[in-house]
Amino acid sequence: MTEPDNRAKFRILIVEDDESLQEIINSAITKSGYSTLGAANGAEAVAMVGAGGIDALLIDQNLPDMKGREIIESLIASGTALPFIVMTGQGDERLAVEMMRLGATDYLAKDMDFLDILPVAIDRLFKSVATERALRESDADREKLREQLYQTRKMEAIGQLAGGIAHDFNNLLGGIIGGAELLNLEPLSENGRQMLDLIIKAAERAASLTDKLLAFSRKRIHSNTTVDCLKIINETVELLRHTIDRNINITVDSLPNVPAINGDASQLQNSLMNIGINATHAMPNGGNLNFSLDTIKLDEDYCTASPFTLKPGLFVDISISDTGCGMSPEVLSRIFEPFFTTKEQGKGTGLGLSAVYGTVQDHGGAITIYSEVGVGTVFHLYLPTSNEPVVESLINRNYPTGTGTILIIDDDELIRCTASALLQSLGYSIILAENGLDGVNKFKEMQLSINLIILDMIMPEMGGKEAFTKLREINPEIPVVIASGFSKPEEMTSLKEQG
Ligand SMILES: Nc1ncnc2c1ncn2[C@@H]1O[C@H](COP(=O)(O)OP(=O)(O)OP(=O)(O)O)[C@@H](O)[C@H]1O
Ligand SMILES: [Mg+2]
Repeated sequence: MTEPDNRAKFRILIVEDDESLQEIINSAITKSGYSTLGAANGAEAVAMVGAGGIDALLIDQNLPDMKGREIIESLIASGTALPFIVMTGQGDERLAVEMMRLGATDYLAKDMDFLDILPVAIDRLFKSVATERALRESDADREKLREQLYQTRKMEAIGQLAGGIAHDFNNLLGGIIGGAELLNLEPLSENGRQMLDLIIKAAERAASLTDKLLAFSRKRIHSNTTVDCLKIINETVELLRHTIDRNINITVDSLPNVPAINGDASQLQNSLMNIGINATHAMPNGGNLNFSLDTIKLDEDYCTASPFTLKPGLFVDISISDTGCGMSPEVLSRIFEPFFTTKEQGKGTGLGLSAVYGTVQDHGGAITIYSEVGVGTVFHLYLPTSNEPVVESLINRNYPTGTGTILIIDDDELIRCTASALLQSLGYSIILAENGLDGVNKFKEMQLSINLIILDMIMPEMGGKEAFTKLREINPEIPVVIASGFSKPEEMTSLKEQG
């Protein structure tokens, strides 16, 4: 703010009731390159300052309606104080001290030297304001950098901790599952076998949590092929459309010919799914969910300032926006922490975005989020583009088709969502239930139209085992497939066999 051209942007309000003096002062100041405005009395001056756009004041001490001091006091009281210089008809030491105490940068007597001193005083004022602004800005920058550094360090520390725990847990779970599977080969009572099944399912569920933690701490193996982001977006939207509330309107926008990226299609799709499901949770009364695809050039400056490790270049920009509840800055600063959730117990693990964070970092990308409480949230995923052409998607679609209605009972929304979309695409009609109790009630209501039940074992409210007994009580003939995950091809085939 020391460049001469910045002086033109520096607006000084001259508060002077003597019209001809006003004009003389004006021409002296504008000659130095500053911009000016005029006010003929105190009330006018206060109103003009209130309206904004003024950087400093040059105030006559004696105005028809107020003293200069009163103007300053009124500005201080209304929180709109600005740097100022006072002018007075006759020198008065006491008044000068008083005005300096109120913050005046200078006190000028309108004597013979006045017009010589005025430009010097104005320059001094301009420089002090510029320096103060620069200091304030660098303070804000420093504060922002400090906050960013803190966030990065925090995430690194948590990542290491989580990674260590997840790694050990994985080994322990391997032991539990392996031991249980060996035990499964032994002769066991009916009760014993059910217990064993429970152990295996619980361990598998723990393994899936551990897997998300590993994703967060970037210790998971991922494939590396060229990936078409639009295809992944469309597949995600397809999956979401099948299950989410009808009040939620999903749209997709894309620039034509967005370049491919290098990475793991299924991990990226999981990330979009996690963000999408979060967005639907943020809109319990409906709203708009938009996915858009674009490209963005990130330059050296951006990459250096970003808390993510980025190489300057062309990035794909996937943005996911919702018109949901939004987040407070406190929530926003913690959403990537593992196990941070605002959902009630049993509803969320707080690992969804942690896994997304790890996946995006693994891809050499970055995430930015803008959120406003009551307005909505926008996520941007920046992923570096690849120069190679796209290889066919990894997701295998050669499943047998069929007809009939299937009741899916599973507490995991991602699984409900994926399974129902896949089965619908194979020709089946789907009814969803969130837990054993919900499933049994839905089966009671609609048993005549249901041909098959897919049942998860470990669920809140009523577990799979109890639900299975209750379902069989209602209809002993109903075929039930017990499932905890839904990705095994044998299960798909067995579904087909049972109609
Ligand atoms: N689109 C959004 N709008 C408002 N809040 C959000 C949004 N996305 C995430 N959040 C907040 O971030 C928190 C963490 O999200 P995250 O996906 O990591 O965990 P979760 O959804 O609570 O549980 P999980 O995904 O493991 O089932 C959420 O509990 C929610 O408070
Ligand atoms: Mg989530």
